[in-house]
Amino acid sequence: MIERILPVDVVAVEAFADPPDAVLLPEEEAVVAKAVDKRRREFTTVRHCARQALARLGREPVAILPGERGAPGWPDGIVGSMTHCAGYRAAVLAEDKVVTSLGIDAEPHVTLPDGVLDAVSLPDEREHLAALAAAEPGVHWDKLLFAAKESVYKTWFPLARKWLGFSDARIRLARDGTFTAELLVPGPQVNGAELRGFDGRWTTGDGLVVAAIAMV
Ligand SMILES: CC(C)(COP(=O)(O)OP(=O)(O)OC[C@H]1O[C@@H](n2cnc3c(N)ncnc32)[C@H](O)[C@@H]1OP(=O)(O)O)[C@@H](O)C(=O)NCCC(=O)NCCS
Repeated sequence: MIERILPVDVVAVEAFADPPDAVLLPEEEAVVAKAVDKRRREFTTVRHCARQALARLGREPVAILPGERGAPGWPDGIVGSMTHCAGYRAAVLAEDKVVTSLGIDAEPHVTLPDGVLDAVSLPDEREHLAALAAAEPGVHWDKLLFAAKESVYKTWFPLARKWLGFSDARIRLARDGTFTAELLVPGPQVNGAELRGFDGRWTTGDGLVVAAIAMV
């Protein structure tokens, strides 16, 4: 489902179950040697997806290790992003000559737990969510806002190499499947200009909400 919200230059591979033939490379094994089964399965399957995407880009299978603040390390010339949640894993990759940064996030399509929305949103974002919910009650807009913010962080981090908090970007979701993110903190220089925000897309289906940013 994620490829429908990404440009054609981005290779997307997703899985709705953990394939029995998914394996880790030795350096990756070391990372999850003491992890619980759930973590091990999501870590393995999403890397299986990422290596399939690498192959489609004509690249060799390599270990994809968590680096600074958990950001995955991609081979030279590649940008990418990964997400996993109950019943879903996805990896999206592209050549860095074509795409500057990628960020994706998938979440179960249910409302946020009590108290979380206030912690992850700005007051005006909550007003915006209320208006969207009145117009289209079938979407859990609070969870979508959360997924959009996580996709913002994953796109931001490889460019800025620093933390971005939930109140550091203002999200505007649109019912047409798009969203914008306005940075409320100074951004890094990217392609000769200050990064001010992102344009993303979202979708729902199969019990999931998925948000994706492909910054060209
Ligand atoms: C890092 C974070 C975004 C991960 O999101 P999540 O919903 O918990 O988990 P997901 O399964 O969707 O994504 C996990 C994957 O994100 C990727 N990831 C982790 N840290 C990352 C970082 N700093 N930069 C880019 N990608 C990162 C990894 O590939 C990870 O998978 P892996 O551990 O198997 O390699 C989240 O835990 C977090 O710290 N959020 C706070 C920051 C934030 O969202 N700010 C909002 C800004 S508006």
